[in-house]
Formats: sequence, C-alpha cells, structure tokens
Amino acid sequence: MKKLVVLTGAGISAESGLKTFRDSDGLWENHPIEEVATPEAWRKNPKLVQDFYNMRRKDVLHATPNSAHTALAKLEEKFDVTIITQNIDDLHERAGSTNVLHLHGIITRSQSSINPNLTYSINGWELGMDEVCELGSPLRAHVVWFGEAVPMIEKAAAICAEADLFILVGSSLAVYPAAGLVNYVPHHITKYIIDPHIPVVNQRGPVIKIEERASIGVPKLVNELLLSGMV
Ligand code: APR
Repeated sequence: MKKLVVLTGAGISAESGLKTFRDSDGLWENHPIEEVATPEAWRKNPKLVQDFYNMRRKDVLHATPNSAHTALAKLEEKFDVTIITQNIDDLHERAGSTNVLHLHGIITRSQSSINPNLTYSINGWELGMDEVCELGSPLRAHVVWFGEAVPMIEKAAAICAEADLFILVGSSLAVYPAAGLVNYVPHHITKYIIDPHIPVVNQRGPVIKIEERASIGVPKLVNELLLSGMV
C-alpha cells in the first residue's frame, strides 16, 4: 500500500465549530497567547490557564467530526495513512482514523506538570486545580505550549520523508516546527493543499491547490484517490 501522509491544522475542524487561531475571529484574539498558552502563564496564573483549556475541552466534546474527518478515515481502505495533526481535538479519532500523530498534544488527556511523559485520560470536560499526578504535582492539559519542545517532530519528519502522497488541510503554516514538515516530503511527490486561502508553500515539485473548505475539498479529493489506480 502507498504511504499517504496528511498534515492537518485548525481549518479542518473549523466546520465542526472549533475556532481556528488566525482567522478573523481567531481564538487567540480573545486571549493573548502569553496569558494562556505558555509555561510562564501556568506559573503566573495556573487557574486562568486551566479554565481556558477546560472551556476548549468542553467545545471539543460538544463538537462532532465533519465530512472532511470522515473522508480521511475512508482513505485507510486503500492507503497506508498517517495523519499528522497540529490540532488538539480528537475529531480524527472519532471519525475513525486509526493512525493519528498529535504534534501539539491532545486536550482530552492531562499531563503531570513536572513530567510530561506522565499523561492521564480526563473524564468529562473539567480538569480541577486539585488534581495531581502520581508524583503529587498538579495536572495540566496534555498540550504543547508556545516555548515548549515538540517531542513528536522528529517522528513526524521521518514519516513525511517516506510519503508517496501528501495532503495539507486547513493550516496557515504559520507555526514552526510543524510548518517545516512540508519540506521533508520528497520534492517529486505530489502535494495536495486544501484550504480556502492557500498558504504559501515554497516547494519545488507538483503542488495541486484546492481552494475549497475542507468539508467540500477533502471528500472530493478522497473519492478521486480511492477511484484512481494510485493505490
Ligand atoms: N476548511 C479548510 N481550511 C480552513 C477552513 C475550512 N473551513 N477555515 C479556515 N481554514 C484555514 C485558514 O485559511 C488557515 O489557512 O485553516 C487555516 C487555519 O490556520 P491557523 O488558524 O493558523 O491554524 P493552524 O495552522 O492549525 O495553527 C497552527 O498554531 O496557534 C498554534 O498550536 C496552535 O496548532 C496551532 C498552530
């Protein structure tokens, strides 16, 4: 089976009602990043940070996968699919994708605030300030904050380097190191980009731009790929 790598960003979950970060009503505008998504913010005002992620977790639990998520899951019928997502929601998994790599963590899990390798599932949407890990330190959202390392980046780069096909959906490619993953895809491999505002990709090799919302562009492309002899 051909290896198909999909890199997704906030745009694929926009039609599930989860705000993106940089569109006009982007999430960060309501909250300066420095106040809610950095280790300093956690040190300064852990309750504000915990509440911010509790509200986002509540939104995620109330959201449902859209036709783009379900179409990507269908690709597993004929391709060896890896989804590398910058999103911290679990919509790819809930749509049926079985091989999802969360570059920036996943909001449905918590992590120890002194050892990021200790992670726990969260029942419901609320993570209390009194909840502690097995070492006794407070639990925080299992999310990579700005200024923190992205432990999965090397694994993600190696996966991109092996791609036979590559699809980018709903990312502005504004945040590194995630945005740099496109450069690991071999130049001769066809890259499909689905986004109503196609980001700049300074790439040699074939790039097919689909200026559509994910819920329109992704199912169309998936049907073409499943019907093509490319498998
Ligand atoms: N369908 C497809 N793409 C869409 C849709 C849609 N319905 N709506 C918006 N988009 C596109 C936008 O045009 C933009 O290119 O989704 C992209 C959203 O970009 P960002 O908001 O920057 O999201 P993302 O690229 O995922 O951000 C990367 O930044 O804030 C950090 O850690 C956070 O993972 C996030 C990272």
